Amino acid sequence: MALLGVNIDHVATLRQARRTYEPDPVWAAALAELGGADGITLHLREDRRHIQDRDLRLMRETVTAVKLNLEMACAADVLRIALEVRPDQVTLVPENRQEVTTEGGLDVVGQKSRVGEIIKTLKDAGIEVSLFLDPDARQIALAKELQADAVELHTGCYALAKAGRAREAELQKLQTAAGEIVAAGLLLHAGHGLNYQNVGPVATLPQMNELNIGHSIVARAVMVGFTQAVREMKQLIS
Ligand code: PXP
Repeated sequence: MALLGVNIDHVATLRQARRTYEPDPVWAAALAELGGADGITLHLREDRRHIQDRDLRLMRETVTAVKLNLEMACAADVLRIALEVRPDQVTLVPENRQEVTTEGGLDVVGQKSRVGEIIKTLKDAGIEVSLFLDPDARQIALAKELQADAVELHTGCYALAKAGRAREAELQKLQTAAGEIVAAGLLLHAGHGLNYQNVGPVATLPQMNELNIGHSIVARAVMVGFTQAVREMKQLIS
């Protein structure tokens, strides 16, 4: 059964809308744990649009029973913070200031030596490294060569595809890529755009190890509460 990493970024988005102290993503992380989350995921973006340094530092203190997964760009500033705070896992993602959310997978082919250096630095510090990649065989082959621990497949195109043939085609791409990741001896993760309606086929891909889901859980939490929203997603995954 896949593990559920709950991404709490958008609790911070709501707080930052008023630059106030509430709602606190640290509270949300605790409630997510009560609902059965296997991990807490947060993205410290270079523009600090939602998660702040303080959130990461406090969550390193409070999230101890489950995995703390930090999403970050290949940037010196956040790398330094990651090495200080030591999350259990880092997921390397591309970042672009104009985007509403992470738009595509990391281009490892185009920046092999930089990504390789960062993977080595993080692993030497005892932090597991996952790469957020599109379902692309060349990128996956490099993840293995550079000794990443895991690949998180970008499920955004699958999530956006119209139900029916288009979505089936995207699922097929994910299936193929998942097979390549597992065959390479890497852990299989997936995330982006997953929700209560579309998570099933991704959760049941063979050897799916971890799903990272944020927006749809936070959206449901506004209506039913955080613990209940996580519990419902956990039930769907299992
Ligand atoms: N995985 C990665 C690598 C992401 O960048 C994000 C978005 O921050 C997610 C998962 C979660 O995506 P969503 O909020 O659409 O569930």
